[in-house]
Amino acid sequence: MAEALRFLFFTYLISIATARNALKKSSYSTLDATILGHGDATPTGSNFSFVCNPSRYSSLGLDMSNFAFCDSSLSYHVRAKDLVNHMTLHEKVQQLGDRAYGVPRLGLPEYEWWSEALHGVSNVGPGTFLMILFLVVSTEARAMYNLGRAGLTYWSPTINVVRDPRWGRTIETPGEDPFIVGSYASNYVRGLQDVEGTENYTDLNSRPLKVSSCCKHFAAYDVDNWQGIERYSFDARVTEQDMVETFLRPFEMCVKDGDVSSIMCSYNRVNGVPTCADPKLLNQTIRGDWNLHGYIVADCDSIQVMVDDHKYLSDTKEDAVAQTLKAGLDLDCGIYYTNYTESSVQQGKAREEDIDRSLTYLYVVLMRLGFFDGSPQFQSLGKADVCSKEHIELATQAAREGIVLLKNDDETLPLSSNNINSLAVVGPHANATKAMLGNYAGVPCRIVAPIDGFSIYANVSYEIGCDVACKNQSLIFPATKAAKEADATVIVAGIDLSVEAESLDREDLLLPGYQTELINQVAKVAKAPVILVIMSAGGIDISFAKDNTNIKAILWAGYPGEEGGRAIADVVFGKYNPGGKLPLTWHEADYVDQLPMTSLQLRPDDKLGYPGRTYKFFNGSTVYPFGYGLSYTKFMYNLTSSLSSVPIKLNRFQHCHHLSYDKDTFMPSCPSVRTEHLSCDDHLTFEVEVQNVGSRDGSEVIMVYAKPPKGIVGAPIKQEGTPL
Ligand SMILES: *[C@@H]1O[C@H](CO)[C@@H](O)[C@H](O)[C@H]1NC(C)=O
Ligand SMILES: *[C@@H]1O[C@H](CO)[C@@H](O)[C@H](O)[C@H]1NC(C)=O
Ligand SMILES: *[C@@H]1O[C@H](CO)[C@@H](O)[C@H](O)[C@H]1NC(C)=O
Ligand SMILES: *[C@@H]1O[C@H](CO)[C@@H](O)[C@H](O)[C@H]1NC(C)=O
Ligand SMILES: *[C@@H]1O[C@H](CO)[C@@H](O)[C@H](O)[C@H]1NC(C)=O
Ligand SMILES: *[C@@H]1O[C@H](CO)[C@@H](O)[C@H](O)[C@H]1NC(C)=O
Ligand SMILES: *[C@@H]1O[C@H](CO)[C@@H](O)[C@H](O)[C@H]1NC(C)=O
Ligand SMILES: *[C@@H]1O[C@H](CO)[C@@H](O)[C@H](O)[C@H]1NC(C)=O
Ligand SMILES: *[C@@H]1O[C@H](CO)[C@@H](O)[C@H](O)[C@H]1NC(C)=O
Repeated sequence: MAEALRFLFFTYLISIATARNALKKSSYSTLDATILGHGDATPTGSNFSFVCNPSRYSSLGLDMSNFAFCDSSLSYHVRAKDLVNHMTLHEKVQQLGDRAYGVPRLGLPEYEWWSEALHGVSNVGPGTFLMILFLVVSTEARAMYNLGRAGLTYWSPTINVVRDPRWGRTIETPGEDPFIVGSYASNYVRGLQDVEGTENYTDLNSRPLKVSSCCKHFAAYDVDNWQGIERYSFDARVTEQDMVETFLRPFEMCVKDGDVSSIMCSYNRVNGVPTCADPKLLNQTIRGDWNLHGYIVADCDSIQVMVDDHKYLSDTKEDAVAQTLKAGLDLDCGIYYTNYTESSVQQGKAREEDIDRSLTYLYVVLMRLGFFDGSPQFQSLGKADVCSKEHIELATQAAREGIVLLKNDDETLPLSSNNINSLAVVGPHANATKAMLGNYAGVPCRIVAPIDGFSIYANVSYEIGCDVACKNQSLIFPATKAAKEADATVIVAGIDLSVEAESLDREDLLLPGYQTELINQVAKVAKAPVILVIMSAGGIDISFAKDNTNIKAILWAGYPGEEGGRAIADVVFGKYNPGGKLPLTWHEADYVDQLPMTSLQLRPDDKLGYPGRTYKFFNGSTVYPFGYGLSYTKFMYNLTSSLSSVPIKLNRFQHCHHLSYDKDTFMPSCPSVRTEHLSCDDHLTFEVEVQNVGSRDGSEVIMVYAKPPKGIVGAPIKQEGTPL
């Protein structure tokens, strides 16, 4: 892979999200790495412009006028069907894998569908800034495509809800709230896909795409590798209620609000059926109910996983491809479709009409991307549009906005560079470089480590103390010595991909090895204020630091991306006032002893002693709750007007429905009405005044929750966003 340029940022709740834009094929899993050994196919060779280029056809010795699929006066659908009709069965199946081989006799070049445009750990709200971030990502992606270094179809973002704090892929996703994850998804997709000036397209099947985005992994994909239980054989047992409210919701928003052009089905089964072979999930839900304009792709080698790991229905390879085609799976990342679809048709299993339908979806997407007709508006993008100064600034701003201030005793922060000449910066992540990029990152424009960022403000003495694993205490002494001598001390600790990653769920919620000892010993002897900065995706039980009066302030930086060191130093020294909020609950360590990762259920289960998951259903004590985050200034809230109720008059077709209530709870005479029977003309409006009453500028995320009446069995404690 040649140089790939990157744009990195970090995200978090409602102010902004982090994301890394990896324009590079990264190995997806050990399985992919070994099986998909083919190189980085640039789309079609270095001087490729677009398919239906007359001079290209004549250089190939072909007459373009023979091919109606190149006639731009026809609709994409008609053209795509024409292209498919020109192909033999053998040629068709050659186009069904992530590496599509093309058809030389038709002038159809090969295409590699697999590109990644990575995502961040956290979260979003209003989305404008987020959309700008991903608009920049797609600009860089188009530029990379023009340089022959990237494709047009990006298999990002990851939008699975973080249901368990141990999940290794928390690093890829925006948190535990389905509504926020869904808002992030639709904004991400719009930033990547939308072409300026095409907002009013009425035929969404021909709406132009800047690059194609893909929401993954559909659905209830939530265990990577926990105590030997792997995603390849995991069967997620999920109630219909949890499925609709939590596991499908972000995907529904991705399709309906984001108009995404692709969905990826996952490795796991849901209630016994592999997701990629489930017609109810794919054809019926994504295509039928949500009306996807685009294609459905399998996570890499999912069909093989279905045969070898799930051993689903004792399928032969031909059975498996027939089932997935029928379910509505259009493209296989892998070689099962390419290798076994022809024999499956010959055995009377797969149907050619299903293949034709899938190929048509695929070519319509490529046509919307300008792959056939060119994209004049993006033609001039090139090297200068990648890693530009503005893009690097945007990455820095996203990282700043992603930082969450968890503790600030005695208003110790921000530090003033006037009072601080020497600064000790210690800990495993004090000189973090690659660790700040997380996973699926390509080559960054540059990396600013924390010690580099702090050097702008003070004279830094750096001691690592120990590495992330922190297996011994041999280097702790030099770190304490540095802290003893400095005017202030910053400890940068946390975890990395050796602890939380794809195919690697966490065992516990603690800092690894002797990191706790390192932090406590440094805090004990430091001459001046001690600031703790945590890098991680999932929450860490740092109760010891929260309670330690020598540790005056705590910041969570997530994995802040290539400009992370600058962003952290800007926050510590007050150039930027943090406004981030936690996108997930930081649980106490014993939480994970109370329920297995394999239980998908969100609601508490008294019989099994399960405490419930996410802020919506867990009411126990936490290290820091969902939505927590401080500022250097103070905001005052006043609810200035609100309606306490909206009267609904029932007509004769509307009936009251029963709800289960806890014993001893007052039950109203009309407990519920089906929302689909209401016209929804009645709005509950309210107004909140928020005033900055502190002495610094700052930004505040205003979170609004809905809280159901007391005592309804199975209702969430509260929830963000609009109900379904
Ligand atoms: C690509 O470049 C080669 C060699 O320079 C040339 O022969 C060929 O015609 C070019 N193809 C197109 C489609 O421009
Ligand atoms: C789309 O429609 C809106 C509302 O009619 C209009 O304000 C806007 O200018 C239109 N955009 C384009 C690109 O035509
Ligand atoms: C997909 O669902 C539609 C109805 O929404 C149905 O007409 C069609 O036959 C289904 N396709 C397959 C392959 O089952
Ligand atoms: C797919 O086919 C190729 C070529 O026949 C063969 O080398 C490869 O082993 C096959 N892969 C699988 C997983 O069956
Ligand atoms: C920080 O890490 C980088 C990259 O690993 C390394 O080149 C550099 O020497 C380190 N800096 C210090 C002061 O150790
Ligand atoms: C570093 O120390 C020197 C000597 O005390 C001082 O002049 C200089 O301002 C310090 N630099 C920073 C960035 O604080
Ligand atoms: C302590 O750990 C470091 C890595 O952090 C390692 O290089 C060193 O060899 C270890 N020392 C002992 C005595 O095990
Ligand atoms: C919290 O959970 C406990 C145990 O399930 C329950 O007894 C208590 O009523 C719950 N409190 C709230 C506020 O939901
Ligand atoms: C909130 O209301 C109180 C009491 O009415 C008033 O004193 C205060 O100024 C108001 N604050 C804001 C931010 O409007």
